[in-house]
Amino acid sequence: MSEVIKNQVIIPPIDAINKRRKELEATGIDIINLGQGIVDFSPPEEILQEVAKEPGLFDYTPDPGLFSLRSEVAKRLGPPCKTEEIVITSGANFAFLLAATTLFNPGDAIGIFSPYYFNHQMVLSSLRLECVEIEPNDSYEYDLDQLEKITEEKKLKAIVLVSPCNPSGKVFGKAELEKIAKVCVKNQIFLLMDEVYKDFVYEDGLADKIPFAHTLEGMGDLAINLGSFSKLYGMMGYRVGWLRMPLKFIDQVIKVQDMSVICACHFSQRVALKILQKNPKFTYDYLPILKDRREKVLDRLEKSGLFEIFPSGGALFIWFRPKNMDVSADQEVFNILEKKHVCIVSGAAFGKAWKSWFRFSFGRCNVDILLEGANRLIEYFSELDK
Ligand SMILES: Cc1ncc(COP(=O)(O)O)c(C=O)c1O
Repeated sequence: MSEVIKNQVIIPPIDAINKRRKELEATGIDIINLGQGIVDFSPPEEILQEVAKEPGLFDYTPDPGLFSLRSEVAKRLGPPCKTEEIVITSGANFAFLLAATTLFNPGDAIGIFSPYYFNHQMVLSSLRLECVEIEPNDSYEYDLDQLEKITEEKKLKAIVLVSPCNPSGKVFGKAELEKIAKVCVKNQIFLLMDEVYKDFVYEDGLADKIPFAHTLEGMGDLAINLGSFSKLYGMMGYRVGWLRMPLKFIDQVIKVQDMSVICACHFSQRVALKILQKNPKFTYDYLPILKDRREKVLDRLEKSGLFEIFPSGGALFIWFRPKNMDVSADQEVFNILEKKHVCIVSGAAFGKAWKSWFRFSFGRCNVDILLEGANRLIEYFSELDK
């Protein structure tokens, strides 16, 4: 009899907590759901109506996606990106899988800024790659000289970075990115940059000043960009994103795309294309709302004096832990759900150092609900502190 091959891939943490949340909701309990990193806006109805009338939607698109959409994405990324370097994917997660299967061999060591996006670690782990965590110091800063040392010692083949970061919300600034790029260029290793939250930066004007990976000096064929329409245009369920790889890798990427999904959903590609053509800065209308939520909820948590909060400036998350308490976040998220009816995510899945950390998202709920959620968290941890 054949055996199931087991590897080190973790159980998706959101699935586990969502399963229990749904059981509680089925009994009539109202849960404040701050778990998943999702937004509460979606593509304009008139765009959906217009696209629905377009001919040929029943068909596959070419494997790399609609040329017009690839071209719009290339425009978004800016020179020196070429349309031919863009592959439209079934979301950024799939883009990461395509990139990793193309670039890496089992056993390769990959550096990953920690806290990391757990789906990246899951992909690397399922491909039997070694994940080397790059952790911040006690002031939450990354020592980039140390990065250089780790790169050499561990013979890293690539560095994975999410900016703005899921889960910490940290925005890597231009100077930091330039230093990271220098390490990549010196060691001739890849930088896989997840730019899914690129527009979700709360300091006015800052988003436009942060460079895309492929524009960093000297990166040439070493930069890989991962992007998505999921959060950008509220298209989570449409499953459409992109991968930008240097041209020499595209044939290999297309092999995997063709043998798996063939192409991203045609309808979704057309919706994304229409929004990009008509109102590319669509997301910017929602940023003040997200900013307001973030500020109010941060203020409430900070004033409680109970939490250590990771300094952040972007994405959709607050990343925190209770001060002076050595809790197991894996257990506490279930206790919080049962006792306070708030759903948040345990930090344990985001790296070794984060077992007592928690993530919640301000992307989906309005300010009143968020503040109620924050109050209940404060209540929960004050009771635990006694
Ligand atoms: C950093 C990051 N990358 C990728 C994704 C997934 O994006 P997509 O829906 O395009 O697969 C998420 C979703 O939460 C994310 O937080």
